[in-house]
Amino acid sequence: LVAGVDTSTQSCKIVIRSAETGELVRSGSAKHPDGTEVDPSHWWAAFQEAARAAGGLDDVAAIAVGGQQHGLVALDPDGNVIRPALLWNDTRSAQAARDLVAELGSGDAEAGAQAWADAVGSVLVASLTITKLRWLRDAEPENAARVAAVALPHDWLSWRIAGYGPAGDPSAPLGPDLTALFTDRSDASGTGYFDASAIGGMGEYRPDLLSLALGRDDVVLPRVLEPSEAGGVAHPSVAGSSLDGGALIGPGAGDNAGASLGLGMEPGDIAISIGTSGVVSAVAPDRTADGSGAINGFADATGNSLMLAVTLNAARVLDAARTVLDVDFAGLADLALSAPAGSDGLVLVPYLEGERTPNRPDATGTLHGLRLKNQTPAHVARAYIEGMLCGLADGLDALRAQGVPIERVMLIGGAAQSPAVQAIAPQIFGLPIGIPEPGEYVADGAARQAAWVLAAASGDGAVPAWSTTIATTLEADPAPVIRAQYAAVRDLV
Ligand code: XUL
Repeated sequence: LVAGVDTSTQSCKIVIRSAETGELVRSGSAKHPDGTEVDPSHWWAAFQEAARAAGGLDDVAAIAVGGQQHGLVALDPDGNVIRPALLWNDTRSAQAARDLVAELGSGDAEAGAQAWADAVGSVLVASLTITKLRWLRDAEPENAARVAAVALPHDWLSWRIAGYGPAGDPSAPLGPDLTALFTDRSDASGTGYFDASAIGGMGEYRPDLLSLALGRDDVVLPRVLEPSEAGGVAHPSVAGSSLDGGALIGPGAGDNAGASLGLGMEPGDIAISIGTSGVVSAVAPDRTADGSGAINGFADATGNSLMLAVTLNAARVLDAARTVLDVDFAGLADLALSAPAGSDGLVLVPYLEGERTPNRPDATGTLHGLRLKNQTPAHVARAYIEGMLCGLADGLDALRAQGVPIERVMLIGGAAQSPAVQAIAPQIFGLPIGIPEPGEYVADGAARQAAWVLAAASGDGAVPAWSTTIATTLEADPAPVIRAQYAAVRDLV
């Protein structure tokens, strides 16, 4: 058996699967506290609770951790967390991001943006770890001076699973060895001080950029492992105690890369996730450097690149439509399906609270093209769904503009189950769409990585054949009028 962990913003989820077939055997989960800064000890407690809920980990032969990206976990020489971790959704480092962009461009923000994209694949925004280090240096210099190692949420949890942790903590019998920290290319590629494109595809840290942010580079950074390389063995008090040799720990992954491994994505595949935010991600052989900031050039968990566009207006646009129309999720779909494609010219540009792709943080939503004939709840329902999907299609176009191969879409997230979304999406994306079986794709990807690590350790280098199956395939059904009328209105606002 193998275990896959998703230490996400909201919770810790663990799936236990057969290493050979991928069959789900047991699972468990536990909640994390809300907030944009969190004491990592909560992640450790939730992991232990989720493991108990999953019936324990004594019989797993390998484990890997996928997790929320970018969070700053700063450790002192004794392995203590210096301050609560600053998460990806904490925006206090927005000014630090602007400062770093300007500094790398010698005062020219546009040149700086391109320089960051060239160096690390992404233009800096407040999400990225490096901006949080600069914020720490500026706002909490006494804390910045104590930093001996910098880890990401998933690296820190893997380290705890191996038995390391703060000096004197009984749940960390191996003590605070900071050099035992390890990570993988995908999560390292979201720090802002790692160049995933360098050195034969494995990548390398950029101490010069770390130093630009923190004022020094004498900190321990987690060792970056190969995609199927074990970082160590789980402490028997945590996992694998009933097996000779214990449980191997895989390198882990950032959540988007974990999901892409769970979904079995290959170059040409695009995942479009309709969640709190909309994430359009593509596996590509090469990393590009988009100085406009629309596309983050991260790494995936297999040796490819993972190109990512994030929109802020996804599932919440559908929630807004339900509020406006006073219907439930099924009622919204019924209404939308009873209106014609293009909603008789009624167009929603869905920037309800600003937008990130395109970068318009102060934009608002627009309902445009009102006529006497399109004033029905059905037209409004359809216009909201079409507008939300057109916003995601702009993310797809941003990937296309970077030369990313695009062949088919996998639509995921709760809203992907809506019959109206399934009917309208093939018209807007103009591509075949696969709807995967519902699953815990990040934890599933981590489990698949754990099975890969196990196979590699016994001499078989191939990634296990199993991954999430596609439950439904929808044919492309382009209705160019919808995209064209949307684009015309979007360019007005
Ligand atoms: C990616 C990002 C989010 C977090 C969420 O850049 O910020 O997807 O990884 O967990």
